Amino acid sequence: MNKITVNLPQDSYQITIAGGSLSQIGNQIAKLNLGRKVLLVSNPEIFSYYGATAITSLKTAGFEVYTHLIEAGEPYKTLKYVQQIYDIALKNHFERSSTFIALGGGVIGDVTGFAAATWLRGVNFVQVPTSLLAMVDAAIGGKTGVNHPQGKNLIGAFYQPKLVMIDPNVLKTLPKREFRAGMAEVIKYGIIWDADLFAKLERAEAIDSFEKIDPKLLQIILVRSAKAKADVVSKDEKEAGLRAILNYGHTIAHAVESLTNYQCFVHGEAVAMGMVAAGKIAVVMGNWSEQEAKRQDKLIEKAGLPLKIPSQLNKQAIIDALQRDKKVKAGKVRFVIPTHIGLATITDKVTTRVIEKAIYS
Ligand code: GLY
Repeated sequence: MNKITVNLPQDSYQITIAGGSLSQIGNQIAKLNLGRKVLLVSNPEIFSYYGATAITSLKTAGFEVYTHLIEAGEPYKTLKYVQQIYDIALKNHFERSSTFIALGGGVIGDVTGFAAATWLRGVNFVQVPTSLLAMVDAAIGGKTGVNHPQGKNLIGAFYQPKLVMIDPNVLKTLPKREFRAGMAEVIKYGIIWDADLFAKLERAEAIDSFEKIDPKLLQIILVRSAKAKADVVSKDEKEAGLRAILNYGHTIAHAVESLTNYQCFVHGEAVAMGMVAAGKIAVVMGNWSEQEAKRQDKLIEKAGLPLKIPSQLNKQAIIDALQRDKKVKAGKVRFVIPTHIGLATITDKVTTRVIEKAIYS
């Protein structure tokens, strides 16, 4: 088992990565000395695959287990579904020592985490991510929250879990498209933080599906991505500065997602297109070599991800949407741009002309 620590001034926690560990979830949570009551929140599909294993393990370890299912998908990431969790906690007399467990992808983690952050001003929270994207990004670092009808992730809290438990075996039931989407965030870490991870991905035979990827490489990818995220979050938990580099590719991705009403692309696909565009911006601005940008684009292609923003999308609408982004500070759009593979910087000096050049080409 690999263990990575997220070091924080208060409440540091561990990320564990081991095939088959889901069947040990009861023992792992028992080691944390939390209360006896746990609420396992999942979605119907994930629960049908893994619910019984998790519940058996939790009960065997002496926990009193309650379950709640929320349909999969972004439309369910709202306060209405947080309220459902509150209702169960109230009805079953959950206390501050009780624990909410998120068994699922990013949506389940975000909703459950926000409920945990706010019920009784905070109960214990454990993340058991089941998508590649949640394993390498969403489940680590304490961003929890839900969408407002007017915008994504507008309601939320930084609330760290007590444990992130990753069992790579559960990826066997993840749809291929979702696996690739998660790989976009892995490539992101290669570009902004870990040049050696990038080189490993370049050398790999295949990175575009669970079936084809070397299991040893998958374990390395999970460990290195978790380590990258843990390192960044340990240095800047509340996104005062450095943590914003995790948004590489996300500025344009969010614009593309919102203009297509979150219907056309999964998040990782939009991030892939956003990284290609941000890479071009870095090259046009003279911050990054064309040769390294090409290596990035080749890797994105190898992961089976899209490179180009579809020509049907109105480019001016993308530029307008950038102004509405959460990352706009004092009216200036901030971009994360690479300077070398493994290193990135944040700038608000990207002119509209440069953005146009990057997204129109
Ligand atoms: N997904 C970006 C962050 O956690 O900061």
